[in-house]
Amino acid sequence: MTYIVRRASPADAAALPAIERSAAELFRRDPALAWLADAEVPGVEQHVQAIEEMCVWVVESAGQPLAGFLRALEIDNQLHIEELSVSQDFQGQGMGRALVLAVIEQARRMQLQAVTLTTFRDLPWNAPFYQRLGFAVLTRQDTPPHLLSALQSEIAHGFPGERRCAMRLPLP
Ligand SMILES: CC(C)(COP(=O)(O)OP(=O)(O)OC[C@H]1O[C@@H](n2cnc3c(N)ncnc32)[C@H](O)[C@@H]1OP(=O)(O)O)[C@@H](O)C(=O)NCCC(=O)NCCS
Repeated sequence: MTYIVRRASPADAAALPAIERSAAELFRRDPALAWLADAEVPGVEQHVQAIEEMCVWVVESAGQPLAGFLRALEIDNQLHIEELSVSQDFQGQGMGRALVLAVIEQARRMQLQAVTLTTFRDLPWNAPFYQRLGFAVLTRQDTPPHLLSALQSEIAHGFPGERRCAMRLPLP
């Protein structure tokens, strides 16, 4: 399937909550994380605001509904991936990878130092996927404050801290 990755416009916001809910269905494969598939997701208004204030990309193919999105924001000279979702019907076709490559490209253009994120260490579509794109898992000692605070907030929301990690792709 051919598809394009482009910056999101406010008109795209209406489609994003359903994409995030559909993507999260994948967590049902891990019984301890199945609750994530039922968790609340940001609403349309929050997406409109994010599209206006942050870096949001969407992926789509001709004649199809939007398939996925990535939201990132600049923190401390790094571009931090806050959310990445590809809806179930479109998973496994390279769209997630294309969205991550778009954020890396943008960070390079902005001459930032790195791209960062937090994710699950042990889910095959999380840390191992980012590792293949060049991201490295950070030790606690090397984890910058914005990522420590993201990890803490995730734990407060019920995420199992021992399964979460912060990752960073340094940019030359
Ligand atoms: C992560 C996610 C966005 C990937 O989207 P996608 O379009 O399916 O990704 P791709 O087709 O580009 O595949 C990405 C990589 O993950 C692997 N992968 C994707 N789905 C997988 C699955 N269900 N099981 C195992 N590996 C999987 C692919 O092998 C691929 O590896 P490669 O690029 O090194 O060849 C999608 O799985 C998703 O929305 N998951 C739920 C939400 C989530 O986990 N978001 C990331 C939070 S950090």
